[in-house]
Amino acid sequence: MTSNTVAELLAQKTKTEKVSVKGWVRTFRANRFIALNDGSTLNNIQCVVDFENFNENLLKRITTGAAIHVLGELVESQGKGQSVEIQVKELEVLGDSHPVDYPIQPKKHSFEFLRKNAHLRTRTNTFSAVMRLRSSLSFAIHKYFTENGFYNMHTPIITGSDAEGAGEMFRVSTLDAKHPPLNEDGSINYKEDFFGKETNLTVSGQLEAETYAMSLGKVYTFGPTFRAENSNTSRHLAEFWMIEPEVAFMDLDGNMDLAEDFLKDVLNYILEHNADDLEFLEKRLIDEEKSKPQTERSPMPLIEKIKFVVDNNFKRVSYTEAIDILRNSKPNKKKKFNYLISEWGADLQSEHERYLVEKHFKCPVILFDYPADIKAFYMRLNEDGKTVRAMDILFPGIGEMVGGSQREERLEVLKEKMKALDIPEEELWWYLDLRKYGTAVHSGFGLGFERLVMFATGMGNIRDVIPYPRTPQNAEF
Ligand code: 4AD
Ligand code: MG
Repeated sequence: MTSNTVAELLAQKTKTEKVSVKGWVRTFRANRFIALNDGSTLNNIQCVVDFENFNENLLKRITTGAAIHVLGELVESQGKGQSVEIQVKELEVLGDSHPVDYPIQPKKHSFEFLRKNAHLRTRTNTFSAVMRLRSSLSFAIHKYFTENGFYNMHTPIITGSDAEGAGEMFRVSTLDAKHPPLNEDGSINYKEDFFGKETNLTVSGQLEAETYAMSLGKVYTFGPTFRAENSNTSRHLAEFWMIEPEVAFMDLDGNMDLAEDFLKDVLNYILEHNADDLEFLEKRLIDEEKSKPQTERSPMPLIEKIKFVVDNNFKRVSYTEAIDILRNSKPNKKKKFNYLISEWGADLQSEHERYLVEKHFKCPVILFDYPADIKAFYMRLNEDGKTVRAMDILFPGIGEMVGGSQREERLEVLKEKMKALDIPEEELWWYLDLRKYGTAVHSGFGLGFERLVMFATGMGNIRDVIPYPRTPQNAEF
């Protein structure tokens, strides 16, 4: 007999004589009621045991965390909170769980504690809901691009180029780290390495995606990316997943339209398909907020916030306009933070971004046309000679969700920029080839997947939306 999932059984309304289900015990009350969960849904199924009919030693083994197999009859439930329950006929313990040692006891655990038990934390409602949503968003992303004529492309993880030019790369080497072969000048001799040159884990698949956009037209990547930046914040990971579409013959306006349509579509997907998990997470947040002062509480519940993003236009503002808004804003006296940016050309701090999104516009904002000096080498220079066709999408509560641009398609301008930044042409000869042979306007962007999951789940720390977070000094699992 094949087993049913808890989700299937709970969706069933009619009495069914023989059902079989396997899962993990959440609680066992009064030697009679087992709350069983198998991950298929947030809800547990209640399994009712007539203890007189079962061996006492077997019942002792029904402890929180144990894996069990239940066979019985699905009947209408007499109790509150569920429509059906299982009258247990046969019971088998598949895997015991020590009643005291098991870390995920049925009580409230701090996220800090659960991070240390990341291998077991998806046995809690919060983390199973978050990870089901993560999976659903991932599916919605592939669905969106497939339905819109994009090809999925797998870009290399090990690369020889620094796509962002920020020097934040993890080195990949087969050389003896303690005694690497050295050149005469004392530098490491990578010629003796497996790859014969210095290689790194990719920070972005963009440059390779550009090559495919210039033949297949519309492509996207969805893969792991790595940043060796020492940022210990709730928004940064050393290993995160990025979605990067790249489109030929599309300019920055088209790029903004694509990003906005895409974000709304995937968020709408979870509103339609993950209502239970979203409602659960919303209730969790509302409870959590009760302990905060009124002024720090979120103005909108989670689902309303997602709907707001889906239903309203993002605000599009140039960097220069944003600087004017910041200059005219009042300094935040309480937090002693000055929103004023005195100089055009400075990069925006997260406090500036938060002011624009949360205080001024109160909706997602697309900032575009940034100063060339604070952006990557590949961005299309505007006619003013000092700004580039860059865009960042800022979300309330998250900050930067997306970074993208129209790419510099003119060979000479690109070469000049690379020269100014000391990027050797030999390293990116293949990238320059795209500008030599059939160059064209093209654009793309990168979405940080975990930041999207944070927004969609209301989780406040990026470490809680990825199974095994990699942050400075943390690779426990
Ligand atoms: O702005 P970034 O660095 O842009 C790029 O990598 C471009 N090559 C993308 C492109 O145009 N194809 O990164 C893109 C996004 C950011 O907006 C942010 O959401 C996320 O990736 N991100 C991070 N997420 C988690 N941890 C980090 N350390 C991140 N760094 C960037
Ligand atoms: Mg960025």
